[in-house]
Amino acid sequence: MTVTIVGSQLGDEGKGGVVDLYGDAADVVARYQGGDNAGHTVVDDGEKYKLSLVPSGAVRGKVGVLGNGCVVNPETLFDEIDTLRDRGLEPDVRVAERAHVILPYHRALDGIEEEKKEDLAAGTTKRGIGPTYEDKAGRRGVRIGDLLDPEVLRERLEYVVPQKKALAEDVFGKETGEEFDIDHLYETYREYGERLAEENMTVDCGTFLQEHIDDGDNVMLEGAQGTSLDIDHGVYPYVTSSNPTSGGATVGTGLGPTVVGKGEVVGIVKAYLSRVGTGPLPTELGGVEDQTPNYDGAEGADDAEEELATYIRDEGGEYGTVTGRPRRVGWLDMPMLRHAARANGFTGLAINHIDVLAGLDEVKVGHSYEFDGEEIFTMPPTTEQWGRCEATFRTFDGWPEVDWAEVAAEGYDAVPENARTYLEYVSDELDTPIYAIGVGPGREETVIVENPYESA
Ligand code: GDP
Ligand code: IMO
Ligand code: MG
Repeated sequence: MTVTIVGSQLGDEGKGGVVDLYGDAADVVARYQGGDNAGHTVVDDGEKYKLSLVPSGAVRGKVGVLGNGCVVNPETLFDEIDTLRDRGLEPDVRVAERAHVILPYHRALDGIEEEKKEDLAAGTTKRGIGPTYEDKAGRRGVRIGDLLDPEVLRERLEYVVPQKKALAEDVFGKETGEEFDIDHLYETYREYGERLAEENMTVDCGTFLQEHIDDGDNVMLEGAQGTSLDIDHGVYPYVTSSNPTSGGATVGTGLGPTVVGKGEVVGIVKAYLSRVGTGPLPTELGGVEDQTPNYDGAEGADDAEEELATYIRDEGGEYGTVTGRPRRVGWLDMPMLRHAARANGFTGLAINHIDVLAGLDEVKVGHSYEFDGEEIFTMPPTTEQWGRCEATFRTFDGWPEVDWAEVAAEGYDAVPENARTYLEYVSDELDTPIYAIGVGPGREETVIVENPYESA
């Protein structure tokens, strides 16, 4: 069977940790979208692994697959594999021949376009994600399979590179270097192709995964980013360029929707909100320069709110895994979660970071929005409308700081009562059972209520 892990908010909900937690029962872990814009953290026995491309199952020695819906930067992939090898692991990573390749000009153009976009910039990770998906949709992309065939690679580059060079130079007025040089790109990427072939890494993803399923294996589908960063269901244009929602798990792997639908879809929820990037955020606390719209810095700020934001940011370590940028933080946004529960069809929830909020007198939740004089319970379809929404808050009594490792060992009933009230409110509102509660970054710091591989 399959278990699909999906971010329900704006990324960094703790997906990597949940993949690792349930990954023991999985034979194969496949990523279905995104690229090295992701930063997934797995903490195993005090050892911290930050993975941007290699699926999180690698830490447990599972077969990792980068599905056809991913965009793959071979340089990052091999760096990450080599680093894991240096740390004593033996990652077994396969890459879909249909996945698209991030080339150096994609990264260059990502930076150039972000600069130009000003207010429309999403604050991307500058990994070339958007430009690579653009070329995929424009049918001028280079796929992993093309790296294995030098003639095809050369032909693709000869068509596309002059266009990209003209875009950078003539439209954006930038000087270009070897990242736009056909011969250089051809030599470098042909070599990557040779290494992929030598290490027998490429697969026909759908067939590979279906064969495992037919053999009775458990497959985990690891989403990157989150529902509100989805290009269709997120806060466009402040989104990524792929589909982190569960529908992406089928088109991004080649497994049929009925196969994925027969399995479980677990929504990963952070107990508050964090956001790296721009765009509105109705439940935001305080603000972050260059990310919060119209942020006027400490002068215009509400001191108590800023203090609370800093407290949560520091307690939760809310600084980007990939970029190190401070993340924006806010209270839980229930309209955002109702939208996510519907768009993904969650069968279970893992709610993380309950420990981060411990010690606060009260914990708030954006229960609904006031939008043009009306109360609404889910996100409106345009981001301009979302920006006009004002959150209506509900207040919960806080819960104390406790020995969370002990709570995890004892189980759900040991979770402080006020935290249980909070968790049960979320579960009731989303009409979805809680499968796990994160009470710390480590694998052992999780209260397991249900293992989706066992509940089927
Ligand atoms: P991902 O992108 O969804 O995999 O999440 P990230 O790894 O980018 O960010 C989540 C961060 O929170 C990581 O540093 C995790 O180790 C950490 N984390 C995950 N779950 C919990 C939790 O329940 N409590 C605390 N305190 N940290 C957690
Ligand atoms: P994980 O998988 C949080 C954000 C960027 C930016 C927007 C588009 O670790 O949860 P992109 O580089 O994808 O074109 O950037 O999306 N973003 C993320 N935010 N977690 C992530 O991944 C993200 N991946 C992209 O900050 O606003
Ligand atoms: Mg992350």
